[in-house]
Amino acid sequence: MERKLKIGLFGFGCVGQGLHDIFTKTDSINAEIVKICVKDKAKKRSLPMDYFTFEKEDLLNDPEVNTIVEVIDTADEAFEIVKTAMEGGKSVVTANKKMVAENFKELVDLQLKHNVSLLYEASSCASIPVIRNLEEYYDNDMLTAFEGIFNGSSNYILSKMVNEGKGYDEVLKQAQEIGYAESDPTLDVGGHDAKYKLCILTAHAFGVYVDPEEIFTYGIQTINDHDLKFAMEKRLKIKLFASSQIINGKLATWVMPQFCDDRFKLYNVENEYNGVVLEGAFSDAQQLIGKGAGSHATGSAVASDISALAYNYRYEYKKLQRPNRPERTNDFIIEVYIRYENKEDISDLKFESVDQVYESSTFKYLVGKIKLSSLVNQTILSNPNCFIAQTEVPARVLN
Ligand SMILES: NC(=O)c1ccc[n+]([C@@H]2O[C@H](COP(=O)([O-])OP(=O)(O)OC[C@H]3O[C@@H](n4cnc5c(N)ncnc54)[C@H](OP(=O)(O)O)[C@@H]3O)[C@@H](O)[C@H]2O)c1
Repeated sequence: MERKLKIGLFGFGCVGQGLHDIFTKTDSINAEIVKICVKDKAKKRSLPMDYFTFEKEDLLNDPEVNTIVEVIDTADEAFEIVKTAMEGGKSVVTANKKMVAENFKELVDLQLKHNVSLLYEASSCASIPVIRNLEEYYDNDMLTAFEGIFNGSSNYILSKMVNEGKGYDEVLKQAQEIGYAESDPTLDVGGHDAKYKLCILTAHAFGVYVDPEEIFTYGIQTINDHDLKFAMEKRLKIKLFASSQIINGKLATWVMPQFCDDRFKLYNVENEYNGVVLEGAFSDAQQLIGKGAGSHATGSAVASDISALAYNYRYEYKKLQRPNRPERTNDFIIEVYIRYENKEDISDLKFESVDQVYESSTFKYLVGKIKLSSLVNQTILSNPNCFIAQTEVPARVLN
C-alpha cells in the first residue's frame, strides 16, 4: 500500500537542488520535502530561509519526518546521519557511494535490525537503474560478468583529450567548473569513485561484499600526450573501466584504464555518460547507458527511490544469503600497455609474455601479458612518470 512520505533532506547542492526541482515539476511522487538541512550559514539560498535548518536533530528527531534523503558530500558525516535515521525507525535514500561501499555490511544489518529500508540507486552510475536491475531482473545466478564506464568525470576528461586533443590539466579544470569533477578530483581520476560503485554493484550482482581497499584500482591521472598519440595512431579511445566477473568460478574485480576500438559496445559513451554491459549465461550481453552525473540526472534516481519507498520497496539482498558465493581472485592474466621512464620502473614486474617493446629517448613502452596479482602493490602504480592501461577488450563486450 502506498504511504505519504514526509522527507527530511540533507544537502542542497548539485543533487539536492536537482531533486527539489524535480519535485516542483512532477506531482506523481507521493512525498513532500518538509525541511532541508545544510551546513554553510553564510551561503545564499534559492529558497526562503524557513525551508532550511543547520541542526541535523531538527530532521532526525522530528516525528513528522518518516524518510531521510541524504545527499551531502562527505562520507563520514553522511554515515552518522544515515545510521541515526535508521536507528530512529526512518527509511533512507542516499546517493553517497563512498559511504555505502565503506559501510555496506553494517548498513545491511541496520536495515534488518530496525525494519527500515535504505535505497541508493543514485550512488552507482547516477541515472542508470542498474541496482534495481541486478536485484529484480538478475535475482538468480545467471549473471556472469558486468563491466563498464562508471565515472562521468574521468570519462568527460578522456573524451575531451582523445576527441578534441585537449591537455589533461585544461580539461580537468573545465570539468571542475561545470561541476562534473570535485575540487579534489582524486576520487574521480584515481578510479576510487568507480571502485566504490563496483563494490556496491558486486554485492548486488554476485552476493559478495568486497572491501573497497581490496580492489585493484588504477586511474588516469598520469596519462600524457604519448599515451594519447599511441591511442590515436591505432584509432583507439581510452576509457576508465571497472570490471566484475566470474573467472574459473572465482570473482575478479578491478578498475583500470582500457584502450578500446570501435567494436567495443561502449565506444561511443562519451563525456559525463556512463555505460554498463551485463552478461548473463543465457541472455548474452546487455547494455545500459545514461548520464552518470549531473543535478537532474542524479536527482531523478533519488526521486525514483523515493517513489519506490512510498510502496515500501526494499532491497532483499537474496544473493548475499546464498551458501555458495564465489571466492575472490586476482590470479588471472590481463594484457597491458605500460609506459615507463626507466628500465628499473618495470624490473620487478613478472610478465607472462612481452609482445611489443618500443624505446626512444622520450617515449618507452611495452605491451605484454601479466597476472593482475603481479601488479598489486608494485611501486610503478604510484610512479607519476608511468601509465598503465589494458589493451585487450574482452570478447563479450565487443559488438
Ligand atoms: N553531483 C553528481 O553528479 C553526483 C552523482 C552521483 C552521486 N553523487 C553523490 O551525491 C552526494 C551529493 O553530491 P553533490 O554533488 O550534490 O554535492 P555538493 O554539490 O557539494 O553539495 C553538498 C551539500 O551538502 C551540504 N552538506 C555538507 N555537509 C553537510 C552536513 N554535515 N550537514 C548538512 N548538510 C551538509 C552542503 O551544504 P552547504 O550548501 O551549506 O554547503 C551542500 O548543500 C555525494 O555523495 C555525491 O557523491 C553526486
